[in-house]
Amino acid sequence: MYFAQTVVSLAAAALVAFSPTAQAFTTACLYQEYKCGYSMVADYGYNNTELIAAVNKTSIIPPLSTIQLLQVLYRCEDAVGGIAGNSYCIAGCVDMRGRPEDDQCAL
Ligand SMILES: *[C@@H]1O[C@H](CO)[C@@H](O)[C@H](O)[C@H]1NC(C)=O
Ligand SMILES: *[C@@H]1O[C@H](CO)[C@@H](O)[C@H](O)[C@H]1NC(C)=O
Repeated sequence: MYFAQTVVSLAAAALVAFSPTAQAFTTACLYQEYKCGYSMVADYGYNNTELIAAVNKTSIIPPLSTIQLLQVLYRCEDAVGGIAGNSYCIAGCVDMRGRPEDDQCAL
């Protein structure tokens, strides 16, 4: 019994050691979903550093303030929580409750 438990904890330690870069979010976004910044923070636990990095990847979005980062529409680009800024919503980002994959910029 003791031996088996040791093997299990070693395996868990190895998984942690080999997982990709440390992430702060608590839940990975759904692959290919579009989501507002404020929902990324509230629903998934992404932090400002992660939102800035996502916006930085998208050259068409200029540097934004912390408040503006929350009004950016982000695209979930992989299954492990990677996000990229899709567009900055000048008139606000709209959380499409009930259709979680498709938040939109207000027109
Ligand atoms: C934000 O997330 C990054 C990982 O993506 C982490 O290194 C950093 O410490 C986090 N910052 C805060 C304030 O939690
Ligand atoms: C985003 O880009 C700005 C300006 O190029 C840079 O100062 C900042 O360190 C970058 N932040 C991240 C998290 O990549």
